[in-house]
Parts: sequence; C-alpha cells; structure tokens
Amino acid sequence: MFYIGIDLGTSAVKLLLADEKGNILNTVSEEYPISFPKPGWSEQNPEDWLKAVEKGMKTLTKDIDKSKVSGIGAGGQMHGLVILDENDKVLRPAILWNDGRTQEETEYLNNVIGTDKLTEYTGNIAFAGFTAPKILWVKKHEPELFAKIKKIMLPKDYINYMLTGVHCTDYSDASGMLLLDVKNKKWSDEMISICGISINQLPKLYESYECVGTLTKKYSEMFGFPENVKVAAGAGDNAAAAIGTGIVGNLACNISLGTSGTIFISNDKFMVDSENALHSFAHADGGWHLMGCMLSAASCNKWWFEEILRTKDYSAEQSPIKDEMLGNNHIYFLPYLMGERSPHNNPNARGCFIGLSMDSTRADITQSILEGVAFAIRDSFEVAKKLGIKIEKSMICGGGAKSPLWKKIVANILNIELTIPETEQGPGLGGVILAAVADGAFLSVEDAVSKIVKITDTVKPNPEIAERYEKKYQKFKTLYPTLKTTFQNLAVD
Ligand code: XUL
Repeated sequence: MFYIGIDLGTSAVKLLLADEKGNILNTVSEEYPISFPKPGWSEQNPEDWLKAVEKGMKTLTKDIDKSKVSGIGAGGQMHGLVILDENDKVLRPAILWNDGRTQEETEYLNNVIGTDKLTEYTGNIAFAGFTAPKILWVKKHEPELFAKIKKIMLPKDYINYMLTGVHCTDYSDASGMLLLDVKNKKWSDEMISICGISINQLPKLYESYECVGTLTKKYSEMFGFPENVKVAAGAGDNAAAAIGTGIVGNLACNISLGTSGTIFISNDKFMVDSENALHSFAHADGGWHLMGCMLSAASCNKWWFEEILRTKDYSAEQSPIKDEMLGNNHIYFLPYLMGERSPHNNPNARGCFIGLSMDSTRADITQSILEGVAFAIRDSFEVAKKLGIKIEKSMICGGGAKSPLWKKIVANILNIELTIPETEQGPGLGGVILAAVADGAFLSVEDAVSKIVKITDTVKPNPEIAERYEKKYQKFKTLYPTLKTTFQNLAVD
C-alpha cells in the first residue's frame, strides 16, 4: 500500500511517497511563482499549484505499481484566500498568509468589533494574514468579484476540491480563517455575519484524519491511480508538520524553519493566550495547539543568498561561521521582511541590519540573519513560557533545518535540546500519516505517529554559547520596541 503526502508550500509543492509503514520511497518538489504586486502584498495563482501537483505526482509515482496507491493527504500554507465563482472559476489570485494589505480591515476587526468579541467568537484576534480580513478587503476593494463568490476555500482545500469535487476543509486550517469557533469546532455565525458572507459559501468541516472523498475519474485516469484512492481532509501545514514530527497530545513542541518560522505547541485542551500573541488553533490529532508564527524565516536566508549575494550555495556561505563566532556577532538582523505576525502583529515592521561596522564581513551578515530568525522565534517561545508552558526540547523541521549551523544556533538561542526527525519534510510525512489514518491503516493519528516517526539525531545547547546568546537576546529584544514608531513613520508616505 502507498500513501502520498502533499505539502503545498509557498515556494513549491513537495510531494512525498511512503509505504504503509511510513518508509519514504520518493520525494519530488515543483516550484511555482509568487508575486508581490505592492510592498507587503503577496499572491499566487491557485491554478499554478494544481499544475505543479499534477506534474509532481507523475514524477513521484513513475516507478511504482500505481494500483497500490491507497490514500492522499495534504498539508498546505494556511490563511490564503481562494475564491471561486459559480462555474468553479478562480476569481482572483489567492491572497497569501504573508500578505499585509489588510491593515485597515484588521484594525476594524480588532478595534471596532474588538479583540474581546473576536476572542469570544473564535479564540483569536485579527492578524493581517488571516482570511477574514482578506474577505473584508475584497468586499471593499473588489465588490464586483465579491458579489460573484460561490465558494471560499484555503489553498490545500482548492487542491482537495479539484481532486475529489468535495468542498471541504479541516479544523486546523479553518482555525486560521478567523471564521471558526475553534473551541467548539464550528463556523462562527457572528464572524460570518461580520464578513457579509453566508455559511453556504464555506467548506464543510472535517477532522484532518477523516476521509472526505475519493479521486474524481479525471484525476484517477491522469495519475493512473485507482478511483477509490481516499483523500484525507488534511491540515494546515504547521499542524501537518507537527504530525510528521510526532508532535501530538499534550505540550510537545515543533519548530518549523520554512518560508515562515513557527513554534507549535500541541495541547489536548483548548487554551487562549491572554495577550493574543500566540494563535489558538485546532490540531490535526483532534486536539488543539498554540502557535507563534513569524512571517519570514528561511525566506530571509533565501532573500540574502539568492537575491542579494546571487548564490545558491548556502553551505559555502555558512562554512566560515565557526563555533567561537556564535554569540559573538556585533550585527543584529530584524527579520521583518514581510512585516511581522507573532508576537508583534505589525504589518509595517521591516527588516533591518543594526550594528554594521567597517570590519563586518559577509559571513557576519549571513550569521546575523540565521540569528535574527532564531531570536524572533525566541520572542514567541518567551510568550509560551509566560503562559507557564515548560518546553525543554523540540523537534525541528522545514527547509532551514537542513542547515546544521542553523539548528545549532536555534538550540543555543532557545537553550533547549532539538530532536531531529528522519525527514525535514514534516508536512509531507504528516500528509502521509493523515492519509493512512483516513484509509484505516492505523487506529488513530497517535498510533500512526508512534509507529512511523523516527528521531535520527539530537542537537544540544552548549552552555558557553547559550550564555553568550542569552546576553545578545536581551539586546535583540529591545530593538523592535525602539524601532516601532520609526516603522509607523516609514509606512506613511
Ligand atoms: C501560519 C502561517 C504560515 C503558513 C506558511 O499561521 O501563516 O506558517 O502556513 O505556509
């Protein structure tokens, strides 16, 4: 039996093929473009995602007996607004999770409706990247498109809809829309009315590990898979990554260094951060989680290496950075290239290098970027600590986790042990696990995780380096408050 996990990311879709024991047999990645039509805006074409899935699926399964494919499960970039008309035509490019255009709508929701009401209705407050403010933005700025909306969905739900014809979503991904009553796992009537939409436009809700349907004739023929291949509801990419790294049940932690950077804490109870810095979302194991999300993590690295230094040789750039340099860098990097979500909730924040001097080297700047991202993750980690949550170790996944240096920096800046899974492709393996549970191959997500997820290494903090970083973090954390007014001033033309 074969299962396929789809990780619908921001830079590419990554497909992962595994057998029923979770042995990874093949992985394929297909990139697609992203457009930034204005500063802080970010869009993608859902049809590009679908084409990439179609192409990748063929390559992924070219050497296997396709009649043995039994299930598909997707994890996808969260919060993106995908809208379809009555003929299932995509009405406009998807507005992505890291798009900051909805400042006015976010302020309306948080200040006029009020954060207390929003928290009561959904468990969360509004952030620019969430889906509800985007619906309000389309309503105001593109009323002719708003009037044509027949179906509202999230990115991976578009793929599931195309593959099965079922308009569905799961609780973990739906949590990020600001339309779900996360505690009670149902759409919020109040939020639906605030957004001026109807429940009929929203997808049907499922647990992530439930089967929503089977492949349409078109796709079973195109892929060469049996028509009864089950498709799981799937999950938001962070919940899928947590499943793929074994983070289920109460108070276990996963850090993801993808385009975004997240710290994900699973919880068997629903819990709200009273400061609303961390999101309160449902988990793909049937429980809940708290999550801090920074908008630019591995993307800072990609920007620095590929856009500025014009190189793809990341490891050559990182190789001059030796242990004695860790915690001794005079340059600080604020990683707010797309504004920031957790914990600052400020679309106007921007990236900065602070502390450059004539002796600063290329390697120092590279190092400051890896450190700036880790410091920003620590900001959310500190919020969790204030809530009384004790985190002594964490899994780590995502493209950035391929770098041994970055893992060492994160372990020392957070001063916790990092456990390294067999694959850094957390959402892909999470998708496989959800598909296998939906297909009945395991009793539950917990059961599947205990049999499939393997730890291959650990990275422990070094007390001397961790101490040096502690001092640096105390300085880093003063920088955003100092610059906050400047960011506001720069945003006004
Ligand atoms: C989570 C978030 C990001 C995207 C990236 O809230 O916005 O992690 O899911 O894919």
